[in-house]
Amino acid sequence: MLRIENLAVSYGRAKVLLDVNLAVNEGEVVAVLGGNGAGKTTTLKTISGLVRPRSGTISFNGEPISGLPSHAIAQLGIAHCPEGRRLFGGMTVEDNLFLGAATPAARKNQHETLDRMYELFPIMKERRKQHAGLLSGGQQQMVAIARALMAEPKLLILDEPSLGLAPKIVTEVFEVIHQVRDAGVTVLLVEQNVAQALGTADRGYVIEQGAVALEGGAQELLKNEELQKAYLGI
Ligand SMILES: Nc1ncnc2c1ncn2[C@@H]1O[C@H](COP(=O)(O)OP(=O)(O)O)[C@@H](O)[C@H]1O
Ligand SMILES: [Mg+2]
Repeated sequence: MLRIENLAVSYGRAKVLLDVNLAVNEGEVVAVLGGNGAGKTTTLKTISGLVRPRSGTISFNGEPISGLPSHAIAQLGIAHCPEGRRLFGGMTVEDNLFLGAATPAARKNQHETLDRMYELFPIMKERRKQHAGLLSGGQQQMVAIARALMAEPKLLILDEPSLGLAPKIVTEVFEVIHQVRDAGVTVLLVEQNVAQALGTADRGYVIEQGAVALEGGAQELLKNEELQKAYLGI
């Protein structure tokens, strides 16, 4: 579904991604792991068209998308749930959700999609008229995921959905990711929570110094000694 080949990205003179290669098959949950500053967010932003690549190619369902504007990439079926959630705290939960139905096709279905989101996240229905900024961190993360799903994507990109959340809430977030996949949406996920990300994902990639240092099946990666030493403290 998604294929990234020889991707290089710079911010000014700073080369952040040197040579990233990764692929996501339809129906998978794929985790991108790596330390702070490794280039994980940059990889996701480049897929979504928020950052332009210096070189390399990205294709989605066989079509090249690198260099397209972000709204065109959204229309092809990629939705991005950003690091730090980025909700509008002074707007209601429901108005935040409607903002996610940003493509013409999604806007046409937005009331039906909203009902599905309220089924997936019942607490959100209760809170729909409250300002998003008043919700707990975990609830805000659920709103951010639901807002991205309002675009009715084929591929959902999640940047550190568990960041800053209590362990119990982290588990709930990963359960939601399972449900999203079961509903037929492919998921590409960036996480620092390596154990839980690999517990949920089918496959994973570890990015170090701007390139993929390690890749494989999630269970295989969990048993990898290098990964255990670097990220799991084992
Ligand atoms: N807009 C930007 N301008 C300049 N440097 C940036 C920008 N965004 C990120 N960086 C730098 O690029 C590197 C990778 O950042 P990022 O992709 O956010 O890493 P990660 O998500 O893996 O923590 C870091 O060194 C970071 O400081
Ligand atoms: Mg990041």
